[in-house]
Amino acid sequence: MCGIIGCIGSNTNLISKVIEGLECLEYRGYDSSGIAFIKNHQIQAVKAVGRISDLKQKLNFEIDSSLVIGHTRWATHGKVSLENCHPHFSKENRIALVHNGVIENFKNLRIELQAQGYDFYSETDSEVIANLIDYYSQKYDHLKAVELGCSRLEGSYALAIIFKDDDRLYFAKKDAPLILGKSENFNFIVSDIVAASSFSNEIIAIDDHQYGYLSQDKIAIYQNGKSISKQFVKCKIQNDQRSKGLFDHYMEKEIQEQPSVIRRLINHYVKDDKFSFGPYFLKKLRGANRIYIVACGTSYHAGLVGKYYFETLAKKETEVCIASEFSYHLPLVSERPFFLLISQSGETADLRKALKKIQELKAPVYTMTNVVTSSLAQQADGYLDLMAGPEIAVASTKAYTAQVTLLALLAHALNDDSQTIKEKFQSVIATEEKILSKPNIFKDIVTQKIAFSRSCFYIGRNLDYLLAQEAALKMKEISYIQTEGFAGGELKHGTIALIEKGVPVIALISQDHIEEATRVNIEEVKSRGATVITIARQSVAKKEDDIIIPEHDPLLSPLVFAIVVQYFAYYAALINKRDIDKPRNLAKSVTVE
Ligand code: M6R
Repeated sequence: MCGIIGCIGSNTNLISKVIEGLECLEYRGYDSSGIAFIKNHQIQAVKAVGRISDLKQKLNFEIDSSLVIGHTRWATHGKVSLENCHPHFSKENRIALVHNGVIENFKNLRIELQAQGYDFYSETDSEVIANLIDYYSQKYDHLKAVELGCSRLEGSYALAIIFKDDDRLYFAKKDAPLILGKSENFNFIVSDIVAASSFSNEIIAIDDHQYGYLSQDKIAIYQNGKSISKQFVKCKIQNDQRSKGLFDHYMEKEIQEQPSVIRRLINHYVKDDKFSFGPYFLKKLRGANRIYIVACGTSYHAGLVGKYYFETLAKKETEVCIASEFSYHLPLVSERPFFLLISQSGETADLRKALKKIQELKAPVYTMTNVVTSSLAQQADGYLDLMAGPEIAVASTKAYTAQVTLLALLAHALNDDSQTIKEKFQSVIATEEKILSKPNIFKDIVTQKIAFSRSCFYIGRNLDYLLAQEAALKMKEISYIQTEGFAGGELKHGTIALIEKGVPVIALISQDHIEEATRVNIEEVKSRGATVITIARQSVAKKEDDIIIPEHDPLLSPLVFAIVVQYFAYYAALINKRDIDKPRNLAKSVTVE
């Protein structure tokens, strides 16, 4: 989704810094980009549809400017075009701004401003903000104009704003992430912690309704008209975590990182064979008579596995809700509910809306997230850190296994079962490492049986069905092959009509008690011409199975099988020459509903 950045400093070569920042924001997904800068007390802008490389071709990097803002746009209001591309200007180019978020009342504001003589040149909601602030700046100083302008906005915004006759960089935030930082020769604001960490490890996460400005040597933050002070904190993201290292794609690097993520989680949450979640958190979770997991996409799929763990291991009733549906139909809330939001990014708009509803219920709510400075982490009662390190590829891989690991640990903790936990996970890690050492096996299968099909199916039962859903999402989002994940037993109720000669059906068999039943499904689809690829755990495997996964605790099979299905998606995308890390139409952090 949209990314914003702004830099101000004594360093006059800030155009290249802003471009560097925009390149760090690329992974979030975008379709156009632009920058604006002050030169000789005038604001100039350069915009391009397409990639940052298209923007770079239009730019003259020799221009000196010490105040620059930039934006990557993911179209919401209005098509992908130069007119709709940010930065947006106010009347007579007095103000330029970049915006991340959605302004719900922009149509009314536009009518109001038109009556005051303002003209509009784009279809965006963001252009309204520039003119609204301009309107107030006719009577008030720039800081007050930002405050008053923002007070009229309904919806979400993170803003970086420049005025042509001012050497400050203004900002404001509500319901969209915004981080300030100081680097050697400049101060900056940016919408993303990963991009922030490329400039500095000293940051401040701005809260909702805060606004202010940065100058060359000062950072001023305000709330409700009063100056407030906030301390810099250390950003934990390291340089090597942001780079692709020796890999061609972030996705492959992140797939390969999974054993170390699990190791990190175990070391952090299990100390001396005891769980260390903090007594307060576990007490609340234990006291609940029903757990409600709320999530989207891959995190939702992890939540389904979590329900299985909570119900089978801890006998704790659990409901899993799709966040985007949550506010239309609230679940029947039990007497002592406990809400767990699962979100890699911690910024997903559907979850933020759900959180508001949950807070109205006054029920305990925690966020399980990979970004502890994120809005969902900060606004819930507390958070659990997924500790997966930055996940840059749009397709979630290591965050999924981190979520499943943490959910398994929580279920074991509820059950006071810490004795063998380390051994169980050691064997999972060892199995994962074996699988990860031979990815070419997956490449060959995908080349021969999957990559050139229009559609594909994953089938499985019980825990395997839960992973089948995630496997299908992974395959479709990066390879664009139409893929569905089905409960094996459901095929005969309709979907089997789609099976014809050569359609790949990937069968997952990790559990002993479903082996026979899934093999019956394999025969059903084979006899209708499907090309079947079977992935089975060693003790339930037959020698003719395509991939035999070394032995491990079957309850934790989703962690191991996940690697195979992630690689299947990866190679299907690679063979089809897809943009693996930045698939079309998708964004990493989905900050609009
Ligand atoms: O950041 P979140 O976990 O809240 O994101 C939820 C989904 O948008 C995300 O999992 C999405 O489905 C992934 N790109 C799938 O790989």
